[in-house]
Amino acid sequence: MSVVEIDNNTPLAECGFSGCAQPSVRAGFLPVPLQHMPLSVLNTVPVYVKARTTGNRNAVFADTYSLYTAGVVPLSEADRERLISNGIRFVYVRIADQRRLQRALESCLASVAGDPEVPVSEASALVYETSFGLMNEVLSDPTLRTAADPLRHVCEAISTLVVCHQNAFSHLFAAARHDFFTATHLVNVATWIVPLAYQLGCKDEAELIQIGQAGLLHDLGKVRVSSEIINKEGELTDEERGEIRRHPEIGHELLATADWCSELVATVALQHHEHMDGSGYPHQLKSDAIHFVSRMCAVADAFDAMTAVRPYKDRALSAAEAMAILQSETPDKFDPRVMAAWFRLMVPNGAAREEKDTSARERREYPRFRFRCPAVVRILSSDAQTPCERPEFEATTHNLSRGGIGLYHACPLPLGCRVRVYPQVRAWTREYLEGTVVRCRETSEGSYDIGVEFTPECKALTRRRAGADDR
Ligand SMILES: [Fe+2]
Repeated sequence: MSVVEIDNNTPLAECGFSGCAQPSVRAGFLPVPLQHMPLSVLNTVPVYVKARTTGNRNAVFADTYSLYTAGVVPLSEADRERLISNGIRFVYVRIADQRRLQRALESCLASVAGDPEVPVSEASALVYETSFGLMNEVLSDPTLRTAADPLRHVCEAISTLVVCHQNAFSHLFAAARHDFFTATHLVNVATWIVPLAYQLGCKDEAELIQIGQAGLLHDLGKVRVSSEIINKEGELTDEERGEIRRHPEIGHELLATADWCSELVATVALQHHEHMDGSGYPHQLKSDAIHFVSRMCAVADAFDAMTAVRPYKDRALSAAEAMAILQSETPDKFDPRVMAAWFRLMVPNGAAREEKDTSARERREYPRFRFRCPAVVRILSSDAQTPCERPEFEATTHNLSRGGIGLYHACPLPLGCRVRVYPQVRAWTREYLEGTVVRCRETSEGSYDIGVEFTPECKALTRRRAGADDR
């Protein structure tokens, strides 16, 4: 579950809530997975259940949300079992209660992460999504006035997960998003750097918590750099590159003024773009002059930069391709000891598996990545030349590749229908994506998962440069 703020100040595109395409969110409710959510968290807010209507394909609009429990009569284990035995996997909370739920969940997240009754895959997804929700809040107020406790709580949870579960990295890696939101990048780096530190021999939980915080906050300085520059398509000018290269010092300054923040966290923000041979920035530090945790952060940071979908790249690299580049840049840029540990973590989780799974790669011509944002969709007229005035409707994208895009919508679309998709996200600079509906399946939430395959012209347009970038 992601518990992130969705209000007038937070565009849906940036909230990242996995269910934002679902009818429940449009109705003002967030789905919350029922099975492993602590009752102490659920009982901090009124809990609703959805009354499903069936038989009419358009009935998704008629769903109603009934109050199930609130305050005086809390949800009990017996209630939970009864709901689950009736096939109910989600309960619902009001979007207005989301922040309260997020705080409650953060404060007990470490106990969920260490609970042997909770499968590690589910605990990892919960830790990942809760961290993501928190980082969206932190980035909207980078003064960090109220962030100390929430950041400590989620980093305790990441650390607990890594200490209690030998394969935590695999599950955190599987839970990772690959979009271009800064919150995604920060959570990816944090959830990878902690297992990396553990792999390198750091077993002290207090240190692991600090290392997690360093990962979550390493790019904080980007909040002071214009998003047009960060997401610009094509080459940056020298002036723009200089502007982006200020982010380590800005981040260090912001973190050094937060009294709860350790020196390590501020140091990693300052040093994560330094290279072993002195070719990095901002201070051209060499080898041992770069803190060891900054060297770990540099590897996780570069790996995520290469494997994420970003508006200025034609495609994201596969894990195997990114590993090959990282290894070719070791020891010049990256610490060989850190790279060796990263390789040990990655081999069972990406590089090796991708190479073996050639049948999957053949089935899917282009790798797909999670890409969640609101979008306007226009159905084209039969000659496929001009968009009709209507119908035009709102949907939500959920994945993207060079070959096509996946959407959620409340109603089905006919197969073969030609559409233009207009992603509604600030960082998106191309006007629209055009293609044909090749898949339309009803989801468990009552909406439709629609696959659009791009036209050859659109596929050609999406083929631009790929590779590492030090933004
Ligand atoms: Fe950075």
